[in-house]
Amino acid sequence: SGQTLWGGRFSAKPADIMQAINVSIGVDKRLWAQDLRGSRAHCRMLIDKGIVRPDDGAAILGGLDTIQAEIEAGTFPFRDEYEDIHLNVEARLSELIGEASGRLHTARSRNDQVAVDFRLWVRDACDRSVEQLKALQRALLERAEQHAGDLMPGFTHLQTAQPVTLGHHLMAYVEMAGRDAGRFADARARMNESPLGAAALAGSPFPIDRHATAAALGFDGPMRNSLDAVSDRDFALETLAAASITAGHLSRLAEEIVVWMTPMFGFVTLPDDLTTGSSIMPQKRNPDAAELVRAKTGRIMGSFVALSTVMKGLPLAYSKDMQEDKPPVFEAMDALDLALTAMTAMVSAFRPNTERMAEAASWGFSTATDLADWLVREADLPFRQAHHVTGAAVKRAEQLGVGLAQLPLAELQSLHPGVTEAVYKVLTPEASCASRQSFGGTAPEQVRARIAEWKDRL
Ligand code: ARG
Repeated sequence: SGQTLWGGRFSAKPADIMQAINVSIGVDKRLWAQDLRGSRAHCRMLIDKGIVRPDDGAAILGGLDTIQAEIEAGTFPFRDEYEDIHLNVEARLSELIGEASGRLHTARSRNDQVAVDFRLWVRDACDRSVEQLKALQRALLERAEQHAGDLMPGFTHLQTAQPVTLGHHLMAYVEMAGRDAGRFADARARMNESPLGAAALAGSPFPIDRHATAAALGFDGPMRNSLDAVSDRDFALETLAAASITAGHLSRLAEEIVVWMTPMFGFVTLPDDLTTGSSIMPQKRNPDAAELVRAKTGRIMGSFVALSTVMKGLPLAYSKDMQEDKPPVFEAMDALDLALTAMTAMVSAFRPNTERMAEAASWGFSTATDLADWLVREADLPFRQAHHVTGAAVKRAEQLGVGLAQLPLAELQSLHPGVTEAVYKVLTPEASCASRQSFGGTAPEQVRARIAEWKDRL
């Protein structure tokens, strides 16, 4: 040990600082399963094509099995002097089976090796994100179904706008999560081509079968350009972009949970096991999990910026800069994993104060639009004029300290003579919601129809 794998050309060992800046095993050991999988596929192809003798090939495959067992048992020696996962595996293989180990790297470079390993890892991460997003959607759907008819204020500018139902609000996130899952699925489909066999950058003079290794690793086929295969990380960027957008959605819901939990809103509570207390203020119940879901977004979006900054301006093909691809991806996908799991738990467990939410649904003159719409329908006013009359009604109600539904008929009639007693029927939040039957609207029938559609899809 101490001798590098490229020792032939070198007469001095790396300086400590060379090793310190170069080492990546602490991070890329996470790729061990993908590395072994890629090596097995490569080795079998080399045997099939007569590039490696069957006895040497069998020794290599046996050694890889031993290495897998050692890693699983926690006895594998991960060593900094072997830089990364690929060289650690190769060095160990050499210790285990001797000279035959040196034949595994025929027609291969670490450049295509790491590209294939990382693609396999990111592909799994996309699949996992899709599954977790579906779990979140199922949790949201269940809660939306329970509360399809429960009123709450709908906001714009975080000011009372129009009444909606809690079910409708939750279903908005089902739609977002559905698009998020679609983005991961799209990224997966695009990345599902194999770089293996691109070798260092130019391909290989050996009669390798890239189609065979691609198929063995579950890829749709080999990448068509060897330079591209070893030098792009757009599959990782695309995944980080999908993760960033997902995290942005999660942070909005997290923010709403935080706001809804303040006593001033008092819309929801979270159970003890999903909140924390304060070390000094005995009354506190803090939504730390929601806050951290909101905050993880910083890491995740930062990871996209980190990797796109590493990649920009790199000349083709491989540059060592690209070793810096893994930390942001691992960090982001770990954070997203936690955020999705925590959010799913909070969605399943939050307890809405439905009475308070329904009461709040009528605050802030939330049915003013319904009054204006009534004037258009029943008194034949142009909408702009109806808007003006309604604004005056709101002003009057504010002066009297009452809601629109409590404004005496005489007051309304003084603003417009066409108003009749029938107007009060549209001024309740229930009526407001029930009337919004347009496709995708907040009427409980509409919400239930969307829930049923999603249940079929999930
Ligand atoms: N550890 C390296 C990485 O993650 C592997 C590829 C090294 N290739 C090379 N030509 N030095 O990018």
